[in-house]
Amino acid sequence: MACSSSPDYFLPHIARMEGYVPGEQPRQRQLVKLNTNENPFPPSPLVLERLRAACGQQLRRYPDSQSVGVRTRLADLFQIPPEQILVGNGSDELLNVALRCFAGAGDRVVVPDPTYPYYEKLIQLQDAVQVRVAFPEDFSMPPDLPVAGARVTVIANPNSPSGTLLPTESLARLAAETEGVLIIDEAYVDFAAGGAVHLARDFANVVVCRTMSKSFSLAGMRIGFCFGPPALIAGMGKVKEHYNLSMLSQVAAEAALDDIATMRANADRIRGTRTDLTAGLEKLGFHVWESAANFVLGRMASPPASALYRGLKERGVLVRYFDRSRLADCLRITVGTDEEIAVLLRELTELLS
Ligand SMILES: Cc1ncc(COP(=O)(O)O)c(C=O)c1O
Repeated sequence: MACSSSPDYFLPHIARMEGYVPGEQPRQRQLVKLNTNENPFPPSPLVLERLRAACGQQLRRYPDSQSVGVRTRLADLFQIPPEQILVGNGSDELLNVALRCFAGAGDRVVVPDPTYPYYEKLIQLQDAVQVRVAFPEDFSMPPDLPVAGARVTVIANPNSPSGTLLPTESLARLAAETEGVLIIDEAYVDFAAGGAVHLARDFANVVVCRTMSKSFSLAGMRIGFCFGPPALIAGMGKVKEHYNLSMLSQVAAEAALDDIATMRANADRIRGTRTDLTAGLEKLGFHVWESAANFVLGRMASPPASALYRGLKERGVLVRYFDRSRLADCLRITVGTDEEIAVLLRELTELLS
């Protein structure tokens, strides 16, 4: 068969879908990069030290397929047995595994809207049916939840791109009322207060996902973890890639947990800068939703947010613009260092004047 022809090798639902487009990772290093919610501070020095030491001949071996060192540390930290913890190649892998486990062709998967766009791709990969329930204007709990017949409901808390936080009690109520599995994606929870890990202990249908990409400054290492009832975690363990976490990622994760103080101190600094960023944007006329994450969502009716996004980019500041109906007049801005946020506010002020 000639390479130029394109026969229908693909399953129809895969052929139909478009690939996920992640936030830009430009090669140009001098940009002030505030578009993908990375942490502006370096990871713990202990992580770097242990990684350097691990770069030796042991790399010829496969890693521990069960990530026991990481899970044991997480078990201690969160006071939950290791059998209730699964570690993944980023929390994206765990979300992927969960959808593959719990939703098949034609099943209803419920997501609030707007939220993390990758959920939609995972639903399409399963040929499942996405049921979108609109967030109210203030991003409180969507009144249409729970949805009857849902096999899976996925909620990011704090939500992206709004940064808003739902109270854990309302998630507990949802867990009790929903028929299927409730996935609570806590990628940003270290910048908030609290968390819902205890729901994974209390309910038979709750999986709570977290990541080291944001608060631990380890997006490049691809480390996620999730908590759930033993039966769900055991089932998900059958589906994950067996060597899903590289040896170096396990070394980094263990070190990051051994020095949790660095993560907490960085999260504190980011919370402080978030307050300044919010105040600065409000002063410029943006509506800013109260954020519990390491980014804020600001809305400005005029000039168009798309023009502001382009203007900032020309001036070397990259933020996130979503060309989607409810977000078309918004910018999502990652909380960088104080210096980066000063540059952003200065450039925005000039663009608006
Ligand atoms: C809500 C949400 N969940 C999950 C992820 C994925 O994180 P990870 O880097 O652990 O795959 C992101 C990344 O931006 C996110 O915004």
